[in-house]
Amino acid sequence: MNYIFETPIDTARAVATIILQSAKSKVELSLPFNIALSGGSTPKQLFTIMASEFSDSIPWHCVRVFWVDERCVSATDTESNYGMTYENLLVKVPIPKSNIFRIRGENSPDVETKRYQQLLENELPSSNGFPQFDLVLLGMGDDGHTASIFPNQMSLIQSKQSVAVAEHPISGQKRITLTGSTIEQANHIIFLITGNSKANVLREIIHGELNCENYPAYHFIKNTKLVNLYLDKRAASQI
Ligand code: 6PG
Repeated sequence: MNYIFETPIDTARAVATIILQSAKSKVELSLPFNIALSGGSTPKQLFTIMASEFSDSIPWHCVRVFWVDERCVSATDTESNYGMTYENLLVKVPIPKSNIFRIRGENSPDVETKRYQQLLENELPSSNGFPQFDLVLLGMGDDGHTASIFPNQMSLIQSKQSVAVAEHPISGQKRITLTGSTIEQANHIIFLITGNSKANVLREIIHGELNCENYPAYHFIKNTKLVNLYLDKRAASQI
């Protein structure tokens, strides 16, 4: 199901509302709410709204935050997904420190991949041999990548590992990412996509146009039962 909003802020607010409702429903069952967050620029607005309008209503004590992917840089680097999330959200809300499970981008990528894989195994329920999140929040790059699964590394979609080392195809920057095998175990997947620059690729993916299989995001979006797209009208302008 796709939801389309007038502005990026409206879109972010709708996603924040879903996060609130999902976390509350886990609290009612006395269970933690395990969410994996993406980085990049789009979620910034979502995090800002969660830290302001939703700061008092989200049951932070039951929210456990993990990451979809991380750039292999230190936590204080401007490129760090954890750093961006900390600055815009985590430092501003009453979430216990023990509920934050960051990927350590400063570590050796191979060592950190194994550590995070083990951590997910210890902390999360398992489904089909992979860790299972309650909610995975994804974005999409202009080239159709999602998480840090880029078009030249499609093998990461159906990997035997739950976490893998990836590489940005242009900058060569190393990344650590959940694989498709883990992402697709989630109970719910939300894509938050805004802006004109995503409109073309989104149309190709949604309409299943020629070459759509070359876009990593297609392989998740086609699974419409589990996946919801939250779009602003610019991103949705061609669908
Ligand atoms: C990252 C991501 C990545 C992101 C898309 C969209 O670390 O870059 O998690 O998958 O979601 O690249 O990024 P923008 O929101 O910056 O367009």
